[in-house]
Amino acid sequence: MIRFSLLTTTYNANLFSLKKLSFFNLNSRPSLKTQMADYTSVSVPSSKLLFRQLFEKESSTYTYLLADVTHPQKPALLVDPVDKTADRDISIIKELGLTLIYAINTHVHADHVTGTGVIKNKVPGVKSIISKASNSKADLFVEHGDKIHFGNLFLEVRATPGHTLGCVTYVTGDGPDQPQPRMAFTGDALLIRGCGRTDFQGGSSLQLYNSVHSQDTFKSIMENLNLPYPKMIDVAVPANMVCGLQDVTKKSCEPLAT
Ligand SMILES: [Fe+2]
Repeated sequence: MIRFSLLTTTYNANLFSLKKLSFFNLNSRPSLKTQMADYTSVSVPSSKLLFRQLFEKESSTYTYLLADVTHPQKPALLVDPVDKTADRDISIIKELGLTLIYAINTHVHADHVTGTGVIKNKVPGVKSIISKASNSKADLFVEHGDKIHFGNLFLEVRATPGHTLGCVTYVTGDGPDQPQPRMAFTGDALLIRGCGRTDFQGGSSLQLYNSVHSQDTFKSIMENLNLPYPKMIDVAVPANMVCGLQDVTKKSCEPLAT
């Protein structure tokens, strides 16, 4: 069961020899097949939020499609689209009957060209969004604490500088009418087992450390997960304290004689 998800959007080849894991939940790890798929549908237990994870092979970038499917217009947004897969994204949006209103970026990417411009040219009415701190062009600029509404759903903007000066993380809304579990689209600020590089575009390792470790959102999410009591905990923890052999004599856990 998925309880909390961190979603990163690009893979930094300079940090890892393994493909980046883009989807994380507390109880299981994604399969290699999931990581490498061109088009992946990840189950999110919400009747309101449509969620699709999309993949661009060349830069190993994950693009995320979100939409409020209970709203009459089914307003949608894309997080970190790529120019080379813009047509694919537009096709999927048409097939799903969605109305794309925003193409948003977590930061100014160094490993691929954003699909924002291509999409804006092909889909009338779409607005581009990026952080004000990025000092780049867009239709709309956001800062820490801003909300990006699509239908009756919204994303919160969290400033997470350090990979680049203008990095932000988009977090799904909080409240009884918002989808659970909440999700955080971290760009390259936070990856599974690491973070994006910090040696260009105004990057700062100290700043990135503070971004990752001081986010009120993370603290709040983790403290308010309201998870059920683990089914196996009363059996598993005592057993695991004695090598998984709770009912066997203590002697069974002692090191083997050499
Ligand atoms: Fe990046």
